[in-house]
Amino acid sequence: DPALVAAGEKVFKKCKACHQVGEGAKNRVGPQLNGVMERAAGSVEDFRYSSALKEKAAEGLVWTPETLAAFLAKPRDYMKGTKMSFAGLKSEEDQAAIAAYLASFSD
Ligand code: HEM
Repeated sequence: DPALVAAGEKVFKKCKACHQVGEGAKNRVGPQLNGVMERAAGSVEDFRYSSALKEKAAEGLVWTPETLAAFLAKPRDYMKGTKMSFAGLKSEEDQAAIAAYLASFSD
């Protein structure tokens, strides 16, 4: 849905302080997010994740629209000890838009 992707591009402004996505994206405070949707959490090789995230990854966490929404709603509740210091993205519309936007960078 191109409209949802476009909406997600706007919401992604809240993430840009720490994340890059798209051609040439690099790790910053947070990992680059190319291909993150439908992929196992903690998969960016040269990024140093928290042990909290690595634990979730070992339990089999995969980023889907559902798990991403749950994480973004309140990162530090969903993943106690995460180093993603982001207060949260409450709007379900915004959560769905972000998932669609990030999915547009998967191959
Ligand atoms: C991790 C998305 C905002 C810093 C992640 C991951 C995702 C994500 C999907 C897991 C990546 C993976 O498993 O490879 C988002 C989105 C944001 C957002 C969609 C905006 C709505 C932020 C902000 C910051 C940040 C504003 C910095 C203040 C981090 C860090 C990690 C991370 C440091 C690694 C967490 C850990 O190892 O515990 N983010 N993020 N993120 N993000 Fe964000």
